[in-house]
Amino acid sequence: MTAYPLKGNGGYTIRSEPEVGSEKLVIAIDGFSSCGKSTLAKALARHLGYRYIDSGAMYRAVTLFMIQHDLTVAQLESMNAEEMDRFLDHIKITFQVNPETKLSEVHLNGLNVERQIRDLRISDLVSPVSAIPAIRRRMVKKQQGYGRDKGIVMDGRDIGTTVFPNAELKIFMTARPEVRAKRRFDELNEKGFMVTMDEVSKNIEDRDHTDTHRAESPLRKAEDAIVLDNSDLNQEEQLAIALDLVRQRSVQSPA
Ligand code: DC
Repeated sequence: MTAYPLKGNGGYTIRSEPEVGSEKLVIAIDGFSSCGKSTLAKALARHLGYRYIDSGAMYRAVTLFMIQHDLTVAQLESMNAEEMDRFLDHIKITFQVNPETKLSEVHLNGLNVERQIRDLRISDLVSPVSAIPAIRRRMVKKQQGYGRDKGIVMDGRDIGTTVFPNAELKIFMTARPEVRAKRRFDELNEKGFMVTMDEVSKNIEDRDHTDTHRAESPLRKAEDAIVLDNSDLNQEEQLAIALDLVRQRSVQSPA
């Protein structure tokens, strides 16, 4: 609750609307590749004191494990249920906060793989890997576990539709294709990855297609999601819009 000056009598009163963060919500952010989902999700989590989970990083870690063990997507696709269970049992994914950056980073079997999983080699294979139903089921279960205590922001492709269909706030992010390609290109260059604009655009197009056409929980907007086109918005503007939505949800569903 916040006190603010009242015009006229110079006194103070209690604002009836709850402060952002007074009640913990589940916030689902979905959308196409390179729409700035993780940038907004991280900012929102930091602002609200919530946990941030990058669900795409989990599928990327599975893809990295596959490559490290000289397996192909075709081999994963042809595994029977028992083989797939065994494969997944060898993969332990955790998120740990980096004490320096204060950002949540993904670990694969105890090793920080946050940087490795951003490689274009992983980006090229992650969509078909993430389309394998048994892999999705295992990841979704783990993701749902993270949301049990609420106070979480999770970004991905199926968070509002499958992982948290009852999330209090669902945001579906979009941006014009050329804006997305430019952002991903700049981000990869900044991280020291040598890529061309053509490679980045092609990867985004391919992933959009695979992510929206797969049989198991394809990328689509949840009916109750708010669409946020951030093509012409800076990060502060996006955060302000998202915080406004959080505030509205907090008012609608008091603790
Ligand atoms: O968010 P990202 O680009 O790091 O995700 C990598 C891939 O993982 C993406 O191409 C689709 C897949 N993914 C998914 O299928 N479901 C999610 N919830 C998150 C990501």
